[in-house]
Amino acid sequence: MTTPSKTATLSFDGKSFELPMYTPTAGPEVLDIRKLYAQAGVFTYDPGYTSTASCDSTITYIDGDEGILLHRGYPIDQLASKSHFLEVCYLLLYGELPSSAQLEDFETRVTRHTMIHEQMHNFFRGFRRDAHPMATMVGVVGAMSAFYHDSLDVSDPWQREVASIRLIAKMPTIAAMAYKYSIGQPFVYPRNDLDYAANFLHMCFSVPAETYHVNPIVSRAMDRILTLHADHEQNASTSTVRLASSSGANPFACIAAGIACLWGPAHGGANQACLEMLREIGTVDRIPEFIARAKDKNDPFRLMGFGHRVYKNTDPRAKVLKQSADEVLELLGVHDNPLLQVAKELEHVALNDPYFIEKKLFPNVDFYSGIILEAMGFPTSMFTPIFALSRTVGWVSQWKEMIADPQMKIGRPRQLYMGETARVYVDIENR
Ligand code: SDX
Repeated sequence: MTTPSKTATLSFDGKSFELPMYTPTAGPEVLDIRKLYAQAGVFTYDPGYTSTASCDSTITYIDGDEGILLHRGYPIDQLASKSHFLEVCYLLLYGELPSSAQLEDFETRVTRHTMIHEQMHNFFRGFRRDAHPMATMVGVVGAMSAFYHDSLDVSDPWQREVASIRLIAKMPTIAAMAYKYSIGQPFVYPRNDLDYAANFLHMCFSVPAETYHVNPIVSRAMDRILTLHADHEQNASTSTVRLASSSGANPFACIAAGIACLWGPAHGGANQACLEMLREIGTVDRIPEFIARAKDKNDPFRLMGFGHRVYKNTDPRAKVLKQSADEVLELLGVHDNPLLQVAKELEHVALNDPYFIEKKLFPNVDFYSGIILEAMGFPTSMFTPIFALSRTVGWVSQWKEMIADPQMKIGRPRQLYMGETARVYVDIENR
């Protein structure tokens, strides 16, 4: 932790307390309240952590007002256009863009870990065929801790490195197997001659009955989608992974916890919910009906793919995905896609509506991603698994950063207790 840049004074009940403050390299200054309870006997109160920094990190920076997203200082739009997913994985994991030799070594290490233990194939057969692939992924990823015993000890840097590579390498294989299982097709083994995105497409869409050729347009678009979803500061699923890891739990169990959290429709599950919403809207003439519902306090309906806890400007990832949607659908010969037309008109109407303007609700990463994924041939049930396989590198990078921090403590929030105080037990015959 950096040294305090100044102090703040907290005064109440005639008492004053000095709290150290830290100045970040970017973003808001931070008030250190770690000793507040010991000094002042009070807790802070922040359900949903709207004003709380849970850690210090050097991995990803977001400026919600300006719509800026940096990975180790590099803007996401530059990484999306100039880099590729495995290079971004290296950057997130190790902090610097790799040399050619470093990248080649990293890609080789990931490639050689893409298969899963053959015995794990049996896990899939225990699920119903109609299980959501996210349910399968939570189960199978958690079960990795039952197989990879030589990479469970989080105190061993070598084991942490092996677990990191295994998770990044095997997540596409597990996601593809979850998909194949759900459609009753045989599992497809990874191929070492394909790059990361192409290998995932191959494992999802090839069948033993014929030769499958990966469409380079689709593969590039998939790689870009993976890059755009790789990490995003202390979002709910990353915070879940950090909190689970703070107890010393093994990395596979902690990443499974992150997958479970990501599944929620308020988080990574929004990409599936957004496409289903666009399909329900169906045509642009029904947009006003749904805008009205989104504004109606008595209606729980929200525009999926809109709004963000941090971004109060357009999510920079949504900008790239909107452009990519146009390009990919055009290149795939999917002209006048009705969902894309509805999405664009919905965005236009919402961004000119006082409700959305006042509440600073803009399209987020989940608004356009589903349109591209559907055009690639994925069912909506695979949208969040693809988000999870991309975000694995972010979870792992944040996990490694936290575990290596000598100041790391188990996460254990307190509460504002509003329940009953001490009561005397009453026997049931007297109640
Ligand atoms: C992701 O954190 C991350 O970084 C996440 C993520 C990542 O990469 O990890 O970026 C990925 O999860 C993106 C978000 C995907 N979720 C959705 O698209 C679901 C729809 N969006 C919302 O549910 C909502 O916007 C959240 C959950 C994303 C953010 O919620 P907040 O920050 O807690 O804001 P809020 O619920 O307090 O909303 C503020 C106001 C409320 O109105 P009031 O109570 O003030 O009157 O805005 C309204 C909300 O009702 N509002 C919406 C809305 N989102 C917020 N109204 C209509 N439609 C919406 N989508």
